[in-house]
Amino acid sequence: VLTPAENTRVTRVGPGTPGGALFRRYWQPACLSSELPERDGGPLRLRLLGEDLIAFRDSAGKVGLVDAFCPHRRAPLFFGRNEECGLRCVYHGWKFDRDGNCVDMPSEPAGTTLQQKVKLLAYPTVERGGVVWTYMGPRDAMPEPPDYEWLRAPPEKQYVSKTFENCNWLQGLEGGLDTAHSSFAHNNHLGEKTVLRQKDKSPHIDVERTDYGYFYISTRDMGDEGKYIRVYHYVMPAQQMRANTMGWFGGKNQVPRLDGHIWVPIDDTTTHVYNWMCAYDDTIEVSEAWRHRRENEMGRGKDDVIPGTFRLKRNQSNDYLIDRQMQKTQNFTGIVGINTQDFALQEGMGPICDRSKEFLGTSDKAIVAMRRLLLEALDMVQNGGKPRGVDPVSYRSVRPHDRIVPPGHDWKTIFDKELTAKW
Ligand code: FES
Ligand SMILES: [Fe+2]
Repeated sequence: VLTPAENTRVTRVGPGTPGGALFRRYWQPACLSSELPERDGGPLRLRLLGEDLIAFRDSAGKVGLVDAFCPHRRAPLFFGRNEECGLRCVYHGWKFDRDGNCVDMPSEPAGTTLQQKVKLLAYPTVERGGVVWTYMGPRDAMPEPPDYEWLRAPPEKQYVSKTFENCNWLQGLEGGLDTAHSSFAHNNHLGEKTVLRQKDKSPHIDVERTDYGYFYISTRDMGDEGKYIRVYHYVMPAQQMRANTMGWFGGKNQVPRLDGHIWVPIDDTTTHVYNWMCAYDDTIEVSEAWRHRRENEMGRGKDDVIPGTFRLKRNQSNDYLIDRQMQKTQNFTGIVGINTQDFALQEGMGPICDRSKEFLGTSDKAIVAMRRLLLEALDMVQNGGKPRGVDPVSYRSVRPHDRIVPPGHDWKTIFDKELTAKW
């Protein structure tokens, strides 16, 4: 439970808010690289942490991320001409490079000194793992570029997709750190007793704090077989890492892998979720066909998305096409798609969940621990300190894992080397 004041403090991310200051200490995904396919192509509208921005890939192939409005008289740069290493406003022709310098001011007399004085707000970017990352915080506190393990896997062994979610980012993150709900919301085989997560629906959870946030161990009792153990990471401020080396029904997964999400606030009430995966090691093939099947299963495949957007066709406006008959006979929710099931529950809480009305149980341990870390980090940033998970050294070698640990074995011994990055 959070007080109304804590709930406000932890969820709001706009400029000038404590949460905004915290998020601005980390590199954040700004867009997928594939959204800016060509040099000198059309600029892309983005909203990040409540700021309206424009991204463009310049003639050198580098991505600029700038204020959406021209500093002259605030014309929209979305209509700008992306040409010769800069974005030219089409109102009076002022041109800016990706660092925000004004490189041409043709509407002013030659020799004007105004050109040196005008600056367009610009944020630094790097491209890694198919994602354009940006840092929107104070320059003197800018960390090394992001270096999560999945960013180092070769492109044919990893991929990232993106989904629009119509609620505050924290509702999404909480779902991502909540292994218990997968026994219910994601029970897609009603009556099928062999599903691992059906054998024990109230996992035991242990949380251990680290320099990047925490990892948690979820333990499900499999009876004679032993224990089904999953180690998740929470990498601050809003990334989840989980492993899927085990199949849904036990045994090795078809594509053993690491999965995760990053929840990136568009503003206080809307979010882009980046869904990443990378293969467990280089012996594992990640085919295009498998990738499509997987995105379909998640409910965010090509046919599940409104064309030209990252929004799901099954959404709030149509109750996610819930099928009550299916809910009686096939799956727990009556909703198709694992991602869609999550969205129905998270978006349905409202734009910003009122956490002062909750009753938390022992299965919510990881969520409570995450909120505590966030509240501490907000204070730390406000007092001039550096929050956890800013420096890549804190997280670069971590990876999640899952495995059935036979009776009489200690999970720590079995998991030992598995929790260290291989890429
Ligand atoms: S408003 Fe952009 S050049 Fe005048
Ligand atoms: Fe979920």
